[in-house]
Amino acid sequence: MNNPNYNQCFIVAIASGKGGVGKSIATVNTAEMLVRLGYKVAVVDADLGLSNCAALLNESVPATVMDIKKGRSEVEDVMLKTQGDFTLVTGADEPESDVLDWSELYASLDKVLRKLREEYDFILIDTPAGASDLSFWALDRADMGILVVVGEPTAISDVYRFCKFVLDVDPTYPFAAIVNFAENEEEAQNVLERFNTIVRHFMNREFSYLGFIPLDDLVRNSVADQFPVVRAHPEHQVTKELQYIASALVGLSKKNETNPIRDSIEADSPK
Ligand SMILES: Nc1ncnc2c1ncn2[C@@H]1O[C@H](COP(=O)(O)OP(=O)(O)OP(=O)(O)O)[C@@H](O)[C@H]1O
Ligand SMILES: [Mg+2]
Repeated sequence: MNNPNYNQCFIVAIASGKGGVGKSIATVNTAEMLVRLGYKVAVVDADLGLSNCAALLNESVPATVMDIKKGRSEVEDVMLKTQGDFTLVTGADEPESDVLDWSELYASLDKVLRKLREEYDFILIDTPAGASDLSFWALDRADMGILVVVGEPTAISDVYRFCKFVLDVDPTYPFAAIVNFAENEEEAQNVLERFNTIVRHFMNREFSYLGFIPLDDLVRNSVADQFPVVRAHPEHQVTKELQYIASALVGLSKKNETNPIRDSIEADSPK
């Protein structure tokens, strides 16, 4: 990797209040941009019921974490090297019909995470929408959570409820936000400010701005084409914004190395 001073794995959970806000798109495209910046990157698709990162990338899944849990596969079997040069681990590729033994599933997820941690600079965990046990597992294992926020009032109230759930348990949990579906930076900042007005008032916190993903048909088409937008359109504004997001994450990971992000967030949060 590029930076010889950096040898710690930084784990990020990508979460949201409601579904369909762009978590998976943000995850796979940010992963791809981090690779371009010279880092070793893994994505864990922890949206077990509706795993779709592999579909966004047109990759076929060799085995899943659920297969490890069922004793059918080993940790190495679930690691898929994608065409974007990052590794993808899929939690499950079909909805689970058996009665699920969650503790065994979490043990398998942790086993995978331990292995990835040894080899990768960044692990991005794509989580299910809303307040589920899997989202909390991911946030608990991560160094920070990224909330994907969109401007509709209902989406803002959903993300507020989700954050409250987490912050009631851990008031200093480090969150940052990506705004999706924004026309431009100004609109994105306004969306986050509306959200922050609420969280400042009720929770005495505010979330730092990591970047935005423009509302663009290229992003929508990339889903149908099963080809990430940053790979298809390397010079496009959408790709530039995702590069800013990846660079901002690199910055936060370095801050984390020397000085725990929680400390800096505690110091920055309004009193
Ligand atoms: N910036 C954007 N511009 C245009 N369309 C977008 C953009 N971001 C996401 N979309 C559309 O929104 C859909 C949902 O995105 P995505 O699957 O990433 O959401 P998600 O939060 O992962 O959903 P889920 O909660 O179901 O996992 C995509 O299929 C795409 O059509
Ligand atoms: Mg998703």
